[in-house]
Amino acid sequence: MTAFLVEDIALLVTNDPAAGAGLLGSISAGALVVESGRVAWTGPAVRAPACDVRIGAGGGAVLPGFVDSHTHLVFAGDRLGDFTGRMTGAPYSPAGISATVAATRAAPDEVLTANVARLLAELRTGGVTTVEVKSGYGLTVPDEARALAIARMFTDETTFLGAHVVPAEFAGNRDAYLELVTGPMLAAAAPHARWIDVFCDRGAFDEAEARRVCTAGMAVGLTPRLHGNQLEPGPGVRLAVELGAASVDHCTHLTDDDVAALAGSATVATLLPGAEFSTRSPYPDARRLFDAGVTVAIATDCNPGTSYTTSMSFCIALAVREMRMSPAEAVWAATAGGARALRRDDVGVLRPGSRADFLVLAAPDPGYLAYRPGVPLVAGVWKDGRRI
Ligand code: NIG
Ligand code: FE
Repeated sequence: MTAFLVEDIALLVTNDPAAGAGLLGSISAGALVVESGRVAWTGPAVRAPACDVRIGAGGGAVLPGFVDSHTHLVFAGDRLGDFTGRMTGAPYSPAGISATVAATRAAPDEVLTANVARLLAELRTGGVTTVEVKSGYGLTVPDEARALAIARMFTDETTFLGAHVVPAEFAGNRDAYLELVTGPMLAAAAPHARWIDVFCDRGAFDEAEARRVCTAGMAVGLTPRLHGNQLEPGPGVRLAVELGAASVDHCTHLTDDDVAALAGSATVATLLPGAEFSTRSPYPDARRLFDAGVTVAIATDCNPGTSYTTSMSFCIALAVREMRMSPAEAVWAATAGGARALRRDDVGVLRPGSRADFLVLAAPDPGYLAYRPGVPLVAGVWKDGRRI
């Protein structure tokens, strides 16, 4: 692949503090050279090396592609009725997951695959260049393995979430379901998965159950990432830290001890503002996490129950307005933060050697993503140096 230069950039966000100013490593009037799908050079345009092929960014900002580290794309059907009920006062209940499980089990492979492709196209158009996808709406051995095999057709960042809830046919026999999840289901899922997840919360799995599931996954080489502290304060965050999980996601209800545990750990706190929006829940205070030194990511949590959005721009705007993030912090959390949550150093950053995954905005500064909410500002998306 030929090298090309991206020029006419008002502000280049590198997320490399050594390369530019502030948290985002920003370079005013910057330029970027791409070669063989990787970033070859970043710096001020006036110092850019000569390059035969030049692409103009139209005076917009350029930033790393969004890294969406938490989605549930493999499902069928929708839950518009649940959403509508919540908007008029009904609370969220994980019991609603069973409707999506029934629809997903009944759907042919082609329907599930087409649904993932459709949502992934939306994510890409909105600037997501790296995506994690979970299972969790199959909850049988073949249905979980199928969900992960489909997800793997689209991404290597796949997560086994057999411990999403105890399915109806195991009601009253939780232990038998945990035997299944940690035994035959894990064995069928593991070849298609990098991560293991548990919904550790009220109405899902308790601390001992979550520890059991994660430990079994770790024994076969999967790394844990947890759903925790979404519905109430609980053990999820501290368990994630204890297990060395890559991230703990939601973090809606945190005690001071939870914040302190996260601050002293390598576990990322992944905030999912679309879920608070769509369940009419209070938003977590990201300021408290940043001030304590916690690494924070933002993800869409795209799923039909609690957050049916594929828009990282929308999540950034919510995080700024409702979680007390600065625009720069929110942009960092949606790019470098997501990369940390997936333990990746080749994405979420634009520095020599990293993947040439980047966005051109129809705005001069990434702060516009919050300043102009709901406006499609992502004007162009490049993945591995190719426009998509
Ligand atoms: O991340 N919290 C658990 N799982 C999903 C929601 C699942 C559903 O309601 O369908 C989430 O919000
Ligand atoms: Fe989720």
